[in-house]
Amino acid sequence: MGADNLTKAGAPEVFDHTTKLTVNGLPSVLSVDTRVTLLDALRDHLGLVGTKKGCDQGACGACTVHVNGKRVLSCLTLAAQCEGYAVTTIEGLAPPGGTHPMQDAFVAHDGFQCGFCTPGQIMSAVALINEGRAGTDEEIREFMSGNLCRCGAYPNMVAAIHEVASAGSSDAVV
Ligand code: FES
Ligand code: FES
Repeated sequence: MGADNLTKAGAPEVFDHTTKLTVNGLPSVLSVDTRVTLLDALRDHLGLVGTKKGCDQGACGACTVHVNGKRVLSCLTLAAQCEGYAVTTIEGLAPPGGTHPMQDAFVAHDGFQCGFCTPGQIMSAVALINEGRAGTDEEIREFMSGNLCRCGAYPNMVAAIHEVASAGSSDAVV
């Protein structure tokens, strides 16, 4: 672990920064240490715990959210970098009380088992279609490869993504 700057009392020095952004369509103000990741800001400061922390080092994809419509790993993104940006988490993917077609397809195809990696998988899956990278099963597998699933539900996820892509019903937040 790197050396933190310490105060005279021995506590880590805090460098608060105010960041205005939009989260799931609502204006939000974050006032957090400049070193706080978007993932921790979402979960610990905004109470949006749908986005999961898996590895916390960019290797598993569990923390995937959309920033200005593009998928990003929120564990590798600083909250302070998101000034003026629009962030969408799994909680904001569908209208209140509803479900997104990708969520429906994951349920229909048994595309998840643990539920822990699922939010990141679904956020990537929606982005994948917007990126135009869901044309074939091979393409889906390749461009979903940053999202790990330890239980082996990949074939079911591919089927779910393929169905939504074919129906042209992604209507993801961008
Ligand atoms: S928690 Fe971000 S990639 Fe694993
Ligand atoms: S669905 Fe989470 S490990 Fe497979």
